[in-house]
Amino acid sequence: MKSPVTDYLEDLLTSTRDENSGELAAYIPELAKADPNKFAIALTTVDGRSYAVGDVDHEFSLQSISKPFAYALALADRGLSHVISKVGVEPSGEAFNELSVEEGTQRPDNPMINVGAIAIHSMLVSDSAGQQERIDHLLDFLSRLAGRQLHIDQSVFESEKETAQRNLAMAHMLKSFGLFEAEAHEVVEGYIAQCAIKVNVQDLSIMGATFANGGVQPITGEQTVDSIVARQVLSVMVSAGMYDGSGTWFAQVGIPAKSGVSGGVLGVLPSQLGIGVFSPRLDEKGNSVRSIEVFKQLSAQMGLHMM
Ligand code: DON
Repeated sequence: MKSPVTDYLEDLLTSTRDENSGELAAYIPELAKADPNKFAIALTTVDGRSYAVGDVDHEFSLQSISKPFAYALALADRGLSHVISKVGVEPSGEAFNELSVEEGTQRPDNPMINVGAIAIHSMLVSDSAGQQERIDHLLDFLSRLAGRQLHIDQSVFESEKETAQRNLAMAHMLKSFGLFEAEAHEVVEGYIAQCAIKVNVQDLSIMGATFANGGVQPITGEQTVDSIVARQVLSVMVSAGMYDGSGTWFAQVGIPAKSGVSGGVLGVLPSQLGIGVFSPRLDEKGNSVRSIEVFKQLSAQMGLHMM
């Protein structure tokens, strides 16, 4: 539907489309096949108004954007003190695929880097849950956040499974630290399925608006998680959501966010908005170049910086 908001977002697409730098993620072969020109922006307000422009029907795998949602579910399933005893909340200052664990405790630094997210995935449901139970539970939760049934992209799943040596190595390290009981390869397979869940930008903005709204899905009205869980997730997004680029991001954009290597960026402005942007070319930190430019302009022009 046309509105002054969609007109504004169309202008934003036009003014940022020339930002063509960056490269497709190559280490997951299926992601290297993405059309680099796909580009879309969506906003959803906490009272459930949703606006989307560009390639709005294009679906992409969540990749690391699944991490804050899985963290929320682990907090809801297992409680804050259990989760904190296993995974910290400090920025790692290292790349997303480093084995960044705290000296002494051997806890992964935070749930937004791969090693932390693998640990979080292992915690879903209960210690005795099976691989499929964890995946089904997470897919159901993410579908409730989006307000529609989501699905796993099987080709992305299979493709990442073939190239998962680094994540497998980290999972084996975590198991050797005694962080979980399950088989390391099953936890990684579940984590890869989590990363392969497909959304479009509007889904992403609605999922974000749910966290902006203290856990209440703004369209269905469902309280999906407690507001304290939503607050915990957003806090970690501030310090670690854009990895070792998080400090610069927050200074420039001032919106809690999470990126993924397929090119999506989720932004959550507490009490106001969920924002989803998609464009596949990435910078050297694994964050979408054009999406960052969209967020910078949106934040400056609409005065969205939280500080
Ligand atoms: O585990 C991985 O490497 C991918 N499934 C997700 C990494 C990712 O999205 C990093 N984000 N920018």
